[in-house]
Amino acid sequence: MSAVLVRSEVPGDREAVNRVVAEAFAHHGLEVVAMVEALNAARRTRASLVAEVDGEVVGHVQLSHSWVDARRKLVDVLVLSPLGVLPSHHGRGIGTTLLAAAVEAARDTGAPAVFLEGSPDFYGARGWSRGSTLGFEPPSVRVPDPAFQVVLFDSHEKWMTGRLVYCDPFWELDCVGLRDPRLAELEARLSTP
Ligand SMILES: CC(C)(COP(=O)(O)OP(=O)(O)OC[C@H]1O[C@@H](n2cnc3c(N)ncnc32)[C@H](O)[C@@H]1OP(=O)(O)O)[C@@H](O)C(=O)NCCC(=O)NCCS
Repeated sequence: MSAVLVRSEVPGDREAVNRVVAEAFAHHGLEVVAMVEALNAARRTRASLVAEVDGEVVGHVQLSHSWVDARRKLVDVLVLSPLGVLPSHHGRGIGTTLLAAAVEAARDTGAPAVFLEGSPDFYGARGWSRGSTLGFEPPSVRVPDPAFQVVLFDSHEKWMTGRLVYCDPFWELDCVGLRDPRLAELEARLSTP
């Protein structure tokens, strides 16, 4: 396979990024595109990276600003969402490469932690931990515990625990966790050994 180049998104990438997001997230792709655009418009985006193969944008990952509501004060943290790769390019390590680059970009911002909602199998195998085991609460009861994941950085201090509070665009577009019947289906899957 041709080499994968990961780089920051530039203004000319917008259309290609929207296409990747829409295709990667299939039936709810347009909702995820709207979320990306809302995060950008609200100036909550802290990094947006693309993966390019042979000059074509085939993957995208975004980091945005949220908070942990710690006892002492609100702590600025990052949320990784969305991560998407064109279906035609799945299974070639592009998602893993983008994820690793996003974690490094998150570390470079000086944030103490980056959170996401996702498959514990996929992310757990790539260095992510279950948030609840490290003193964090998900932003909603509709985020199944195993799906709520975090990577901590050196700037994280012991007191920086508590509930993750997403920035407004996630709530305004109802992009937090899942709703039934998808939530119930996922919970059933996660509880099946
Ligand atoms: C998840 C995604 C980004 C992975 O991209 P990719 O380039 O195919 O990933 P890689 O080639 O690096 O890794 C492939 C692995 O991902 C796993 N994987 C793919 N989709 C997955 C999913 N929805 N849940 C769990 N694992 C998944 C594959 O089974 C494979 O596992 P293996 O390494 O044990 O064989 C891509 O499948 C995608 O865009 N999916 C749709 C959007 C999405 O669900 N994003 C994640 C939101 S949390």
